Amino acid sequence: MPQLFPAHSAPHGTKVAIVGAGAVGSTIAYACQIHGVAHTIALYDIDAAKVRAQVLDLQHGSMFTPTTSILGGDDVGVCADADVVVITAGAKQRPGQSRMELAEANVAMCRALVPRLLEVAPEAILLPVTNPVDVITHAILTISGLPARRVVGSGTVLDSSRLRSLIAERAGVGVPSVRAYIAGEHGDSAVPLWSGAFIGSVPVAGWTVDGTPTFTRTVREDIARTVTNAAYEVIAGKGATNYAVGLAVAYVLDAIIGDQRLILPVSSLVRDFHGIDGVCLSLPRLVGRTGAGAIEPASPSDGELVSLRASAGQIGKVCAELRL
Ligand code: LAC
Repeated sequence: MPQLFPAHSAPHGTKVAIVGAGAVGSTIAYACQIHGVAHTIALYDIDAAKVRAQVLDLQHGSMFTPTTSILGGDDVGVCADADVVVITAGAKQRPGQSRMELAEANVAMCRALVPRLLEVAPEAILLPVTNPVDVITHAILTISGLPARRVVGSGTVLDSSRLRSLIAERAGVGVPSVRAYIAGEHGDSAVPLWSGAFIGSVPVAGWTVDGTPTFTRTVREDIARTVTNAAYEVIAGKGATNYAVGLAVAYVLDAIIGDQRLILPVSSLVRDFHGIDGVCLSLPRLVGRTGAGAIEPASPSDGELVSLRASAGQIGKVCAELRL
């Protein structure tokens, strides 16, 4: 049965630290609290008043959630000894702005932040969410010198959720019965892996309603466009995305802290994958207590590989410009 991310009692002694107490960081904390992902959730932000308010607001809901200790402050020391440190701080997309346009400013932020985080949480897995998340994942890997498995970007987990909900809607089934992944860049060059997409035990390509194929090329292209444009649409309407990314990151955290060993499209360093080498991007891979594991042994279609190589090229170009 699909993993439905149930609420459970927080594993004793586990701690998640979240850098950035804005809309995304506080929503990740909220989702973790509701699902009992960790025993302790620590919020760190340079804005003391904001982080205190977020912590109080979360604490006030404690009657309704699994027991979770919630703390925070404007001293990086609140992240001490975290099992996982989530990084959401940095410049955010403005309406119409691409994620890649944030790269230079947010890499600079990482150069100052990452060494301080590792001083207080030297054993932590680092989970970048800050965009452009594939470039930021690469930057944190370079700056920290950590093994690749310990730098796990949120990648296209959120995009895959968007894809699955659109497929489910068209097919008239519940989202948990859809397995489909977006791979590559969490951004404009994202790649739907239609070749590995299933509804129940039926390949999406073979799904029919009253004998008529549902997912024609036109429909697939329309769905892919909707996924790629999703964040732009939400940002245009309310200034930022937070709910879905909050749930997506809490889901990845639960996979790590609970050692769920889920196959998730997190952003991680890719080595020698069909000609893609030395770049951080999302491919479905095993995620558990040690971080990002092996890529699933699947073979994307020739067309998907062309798109993945193009996506890798986009990410690699920005990383080269920033000397990562
Ligand atoms: C989004 C942000 C998290 O896709 O990049 O909603």
